[in-house]
Amino acid sequence: MIAPLPPTGDNRLGCVAEDLASKGWSWQPGLLPEALLTALRNEIQALDADAVLAPAGIGRDDAFQVDRSIRKTRITWLSGASPAQIAFADWAEGWRESLNRALLLGLFEFEACYAVYPEGGFYDRHLDSFEGARNRIVSIVVYLNEDWGPEDGGALVVWPEGAAASDAPAACIVPEGGGVVFMLSETIPHEVQPTTRLRFGIAGWWRVNPAIDGRAIPID
Ligand code: OGA
Ligand code: MN
Repeated sequence: MIAPLPPTGDNRLGCVAEDLASKGWSWQPGLLPEALLTALRNEIQALDADAVLAPAGIGRDDAFQVDRSIRKTRITWLSGASPAQIAFADWAEGWRESLNRALLLGLFEFEACYAVYPEGGFYDRHLDSFEGARNRIVSIVVYLNEDWGPEDGGALVVWPEGAAASDAPAACIVPEGGGVVFMLSETIPHEVQPTTRLRFGIAGWWRVNPAIDGRAIPID
């Protein structure tokens, strides 16, 4: 049984909202509540040991391919199948509501997957939302690692909106457990540098309400 979570949207919300509005990304060390971090870490490690996670693809459904020259990760989608996943969904829902209040983004639905990078795993520079489809609006990455240091590799490199790969990055983030990155999915290029250890995390995205014939689908 997981203890009730402290409410989100304390002083951190102001920082995240301000960062997203001004630069399009935000790094928040130690944001995930400790009990939730432990529960999710135990679950991802158990799933990985049972080889439940599958190699991740790139591209949209119709162009799905497993291309290890771009990405080397194992993933499994979160489905609310355990108390840890339900608690995580509640935590993410708190952030959805807070970000909508602060930034009027109209974030509507959330999806997330566990992601394990094996030794030597990486993810080349990319955007999370594909051109021509306004699907993913805000991305989050939640790190579940233990005792991670710069020497372990696997850093997340983030560039400012519009920056070329040859431009200086905005940040190089060490994926410490409990840290959370927020990024605007359509504009912030990022990559995962090769890791020298198993690297555990959750990648998630909020989408807006998909419109049909230009009209939002009623919620009820
Ligand atoms: C992704 C991603 C970054 C990370 O899954 O799209 O960019 O640090 N992950 O794991
Ligand atoms: Mn990404």
